[in-house]
Order: sequence, then structure tokens, then C-alpha cells
Amino acid sequence: MARRRQIYEGKAKVLFEGPEPGTLVQYFKDDATAFNNKKRGTITGKGVLNNRISEYLMVRLNEIGVFTHFVRRLNMREQLVREVEIIPVEVVVRNVVAGSLATRLGMAEGTALPRSIIEYYYKNDELDDPMVSEEHITAFGWATPQELDEIMSVALRINDFLTGLFLGTGIRLVDFKLEFGRLWEGEQMRIVLADEISPDSCRLWDIKTNEKMDKDRFRRDLGRVEEAYQEVARRLGILPESGPRDMQGPKVMQ
Ligand code: TMP
Repeated sequence: MARRRQIYEGKAKVLFEGPEPGTLVQYFKDDATAFNNKKRGTITGKGVLNNRISEYLMVRLNEIGVFTHFVRRLNMREQLVREVEIIPVEVVVRNVVAGSLATRLGMAEGTALPRSIIEYYYKNDELDDPMVSEEHITAFGWATPQELDEIMSVALRINDFLTGLFLGTGIRLVDFKLEFGRLWEGEQMRIVLADEISPDSCRLWDIKTNEKMDKDRFRRDLGRVEEAYQEVARRLGILPESGPRDMQGPKVMQ
């Protein structure tokens, strides 16, 4: 069988040409990076878990009317997605002070925010994804004001829904990052949720202990990284049945 054509390789995923025009195969790697590639490692089984977790969350979101690029999961590490034109903006939604917000403003991690905050970052590795405002996004034409309005309202809706969904499993959704793309259906263009939603792109804290259950365990060398990703999948009720074979042992390499 001919090898599929690779379209793009990112830090945690690879995109291949899909079986039909307008589709792509999204492959989830075990590679982990942080601080824009300055820290690198492997989280054994991460790709399998993120494929499954992202599938689950995108399907749930689709059920409440959020349009996404997700079509279906193909196997342990791959999912079929619609090909979209990615808007070069990372949309971060925050409910609790953590990470770069804590550092930038000198605030204590864990402080609940009086209301959800949306931040935008320009997707550009060479520039370290700088934070930008709506003004930059519309002035430079990365998205139109109408597209940005749509992105903001969908992001808040996703936040409300996922906050409740995770709360039901004893997890606090502290913050997360979303990416959106343009999908054309004939003359009609629709903004859809793209990329992934997983412990790589969210901060998830245990509601009782505040224990981190996300990529901060890797970023901050907290140990038990694989176990944290597995626990998120377990609480969502979606641990892959053939899991242990493909997700053996704690092994974080740097
Ligand atoms: P931050 O506090 O480092 O700005 O991160 C906010 C959220 O965005 C956090 O849930 C992790 C996620 N994130 C990504 O998914 N990719 C990134 O490159 C960065 C910097 C953050």
C-alpha cells in the first residue's frame, strides 16, 4: 500500500492526506514539548489517550451544536478530520489563575477569576506565540470582526459545557486552549473548532486535592505524567480497552 502523503508535522501531531478530498488523518504522537520546544520528552501512551479524549470531547460538543473538524476516530492513534483553513490564533479561556497569567501579573495560582477571561495568542513559533489583542487580529486580517465574535461566543459556550462536564468527574477546568478553522461548504463558510482538546491543551485539577492532571506535570517535572492522562480518560469513562499494552509504565524522557 502506498504511504500516505504527509501534509504537516507539528510538535504532538502529524497530519496526513485523508482518504477523500477535503479530509485529513490526524495522527497523535507520544512526543511532548513545552516552552516552545525548549523542553522535549516522550509521554508513553499519550497519543492514544489524547486521540480518545479529544474524540470524546469533540463528539460531546458536536451534540450540543458546536461545529468541529472531527469526523471519526480511525484507530488507536488516528482520527479522520475535515480539512480546514486554520486561523493563526490560539484562543485561551481561563477560569482560574494559573500558568502564564500567574507569572505575567504576579498573581497566586489557584485564584478563581471573577469571570471567564479570553486571551488570544498569535500562532507563530519563531515569535514564541505572542499575546495579541482583538485589534491586532482584525487589523492584520487573521480573522474578521464577525469571525472573531463567533469564535468568542463559541469559546465561551465550550467553556460552560466543558466546565460542567469535567466537574461531573471531579475535575476543575482551570484553563484551556482552542484553535479554530474555516470550513467551506459550497459558497458557505463556517467557523469550526479544530486541533484537539486534551490534557496537552487544558489545565485540569482534581477538585478535592488540586492535584494537576495535565501537561503541567511534564512542564514542571512533577512525575506520574502518564498516570494523570490515564486518570482523566478513566474519569471520562473512556480508557481504551487494549490500553495497558500500548501505554506501559511511567517513562518520561527529556
Ligand atoms: P499558559 O498559562 O501557559 O498561557 O497556558 C494557558 C492554557 O493553554 C493551558 O491550558 C495550556 C494551553 N497551552 C497550549 O495548549 N499550548 C501552548 O502552546 C500554550 C503556551 C498553552
